[in-house]
Amino acid sequence: MLPYTGMMGNTKPHLTCRHCGTSIGGSPYLRAGKEYGCEGCFLKARQWVESSDAEHHALAEALAAALDLREREPGFPSKRVACHTLVLARRFTNDREQLRQIYWGALLHDVGKIGIPDAILLKPGPLAQAERELMRTHPEKGHAILAGVPFLQDAAQIVLSHEEHFDGGGYPRGLAGEAIPFGARLFAVIDTLDAMTSDRPYRRGLPFDSAMAEIQRFAGSQFDPTAVEAFIAEERVLREMVAVKCSAAWAGAPLVSARGERGNLVGLQRS
Ligand SMILES: [Fe+2]
Repeated sequence: MLPYTGMMGNTKPHLTCRHCGTSIGGSPYLRAGKEYGCEGCFLKARQWVESSDAEHHALAEALAAALDLREREPGFPSKRVACHTLVLARRFTNDREQLRQIYWGALLHDVGKIGIPDAILLKPGPLAQAERELMRTHPEKGHAILAGVPFLQDAAQIVLSHEEHFDGGGYPRGLAGEAIPFGARLFAVIDTLDAMTSDRPYRRGLPFDSAMAEIQRFAGSQFDPTAVEAFIAEERVLREMVAVKCSAAWAGAPLVSARGERGNLVGLQRS
């Protein structure tokens, strides 16, 4: 892992990732002397996947990348939260199948948003009541998409439950406590971390410390206290992962597809 400085700005458009060779001129980058890396390669180094899973994994990533493209988010938002969730999950289990399902569930958590109309999904301002209700159908839509895929059965349950709150105040089923799949409880913390620290059209992303304070404040209500404890224990790693993520602040640069080793689409990056 390279040491980094969270440099942002497009003052050095000639920079290329030392790992994959893609231009990182419009993205944040790591810096160690004269060596640079893009967020995609950073996440790849963090990723856990069995070589025997490569085809399943490529399929799941392609599906996630399709949603990221539709939402027009820069960087690797789905892969990012999946990798972050895995950081927490590894504290509780070494079971490879369980980790696989948690990774895929987090990766595909919002896949149901494919079924939400553009006028709502991409609306820059607040949603009206009816629009909000339609948006809240995305966990069930996502579950319906994945439920028939044999290798994604537990992941589909995480997708269905990823908007539930520990105290029962979430949706779609109002599940509480341990009735919520553990992977979904871990993911909920990471999803909030990523949302709060990401730029939006109407605000800049908040500092890591602000997000951490919010997450701690909602331990026991929105979040499983056990998941929050794991979050605090992994603060150093998560802080580093947040620091290198791509930023919507690069709104001036056009989005282009980012491709993995096999040429598969893995996300978007600023050109
Ligand atoms: Fe969601």
